Amino acid sequence: MKCVVCRESAVIDVRRANSNFCSDHFVRFCQEQMSRAIREFDMLSSTDRVLVAVSGGKDSLAVWDLLQRSGYQADGLYLGLGIEDYSDTSVVFARSFAQSRNLNLIEVDLPTDYGYDIPSGARAARRAPCSACGTSKRHLFDKVALEGSYDVLVTGHNLDDEAAVLFGNVLRWQTEYLARQMPVLQARPGFPKKVKPLIRLSERDTAAYCILLGIDYMVDECPMSAGNKHLGYKEALNSIELASPGTKSDFYSGFLRKASELFRSAYLEAAPQGGTTESVEDLTHCVRCSAPSTSTLCAFCRLVEKAGGSVGAEQRGLRSAGDTSAAQPVRITKRAVGPEVSTTAPLRPTEVEAEL
Ligand code: AMP
Ligand code: FES
Ligand code: ZN
Ligand code: ZN
Repeated sequence: MKCVVCRESAVIDVRRANSNFCSDHFVRFCQEQMSRAIREFDMLSSTDRVLVAVSGGKDSLAVWDLLQRSGYQADGLYLGLGIEDYSDTSVVFARSFAQSRNLNLIEVDLPTDYGYDIPSGARAARRAPCSACGTSKRHLFDKVALEGSYDVLVTGHNLDDEAAVLFGNVLRWQTEYLARQMPVLQARPGFPKKVKPLIRLSERDTAAYCILLGIDYMVDECPMSAGNKHLGYKEALNSIELASPGTKSDFYSGFLRKASELFRSAYLEAAPQGGTTESVEDLTHCVRCSAPSTSTLCAFCRLVEKAGGSVGAEQRGLRSAGDTSAAQPVRITKRAVGPEVSTTAPLRPTEVEAEL
C-alpha cells in the first residue's frame, strides 16, 4: 500500500477518497479537509478569537490541534459534567493537551459551579441524561463564548456525527431540525457564532490523526450514552459505508448542497405563523440568568432548579453578541495551563431557543 502523494509506504487508507496516505500526507489531508470546510461555509477568519469546546475526546483535541497548525488563535473550554470516572478522566486529557502546547483552557464544572451533576440532575429533573447534558452544554458554551468576547465557538462534531443526526431527522422527517442542521450557526443577540470544522472528516480519521501525532485522548464513550439512538444510526450507516464507501459523505454533503436550503426556507416561511417554531424576535430574557428564552426561566435555569442546584449571583448577566456594554463578571474555574451544541442529541421543541 503506497501513499497516493509521495509513493512512500502508506499507513492508512481512506476508502471514501479512494486514497492511501503516509503519515505526513494524512495529516496534510486532514488539514486540507478542515480548511475546505472552513472556506466553503465561511466558518472562520484568520483574525477571529476562537473558543474550542474540548471534551478530551479525539475529535475536539484533533480540531484544536488542526486549528493551531493552521494559525488560528484558539482557547479551549472544558465542561465538567460530574459523570464520575468519565469526567475525572476526560479532564486529564484536555488539561494535558493544553499544557503540552501552552494553550489556555477554561474550565467550568457543573457540580462546583452550579451544584448539580448530569446523572443525579437528570434523575431529579426527570430528563434523559443526554437531554439534560445537551441543555447544559449549549447554555454554558454560549455563555462562556459571549462573556469571553470570542468571535466563534468551535465543536468537534465530525462527518459521522452529522450524518447520524441527519439520518435520525430524516427517518422521522423532523423538518424543523432539518432546517437548522447546518455546520454554521451565525451569531445572534444572545448567541455566539458556532461552527463545526470537522464535517469532512470521519471518526476513524480523527482517531488516526491523534494516534499518528501522539495526541492522547479519552477513548471510552460516555457511560450515559449507552443505548443512545444515535449510536444505532452510526452503526447502520457504518454497515452501508462498508459496502459502498463514500455513501455517508454523499448523504451528508448532498443534504447540505441540495436539500437544506429547502427546509430552511420552509421553516422561515412557517415561523411567523407560530406552531412550535419560535423566531428570534419571540425571545425574551430569562429572569434569572438573562439568557435569551421563550419563557420566564430559560431551559438551563429550569434544569438547575429541578436538579437542586443554583446559579450564583456572580454568574448572572449574559450579554448579547456584539454588545460591549456592561459585561458582568462570570465565575468560571479558569486554570492557567503552563504560563493555562448542536450536541448530537436532537433538540426538543421547547429547547428551540437554545439552538437558534
Ligand atoms: P458530543 O455531544 O459528546 O457528541 O460532543 C460533540 C462536541 O461537543 C465535542 O466534539 C466537543 O467539541 C463538545 N463537547 C462535548 N462534551 C464536552 C465537554 N464536556 N466539554 C467541552 N466540550 C464538549
Ligand atoms: Fe452528555 Fe454523556 S450525557 S456526554
Ligand atoms: Zn506521502
Ligand atoms: Zn436562565
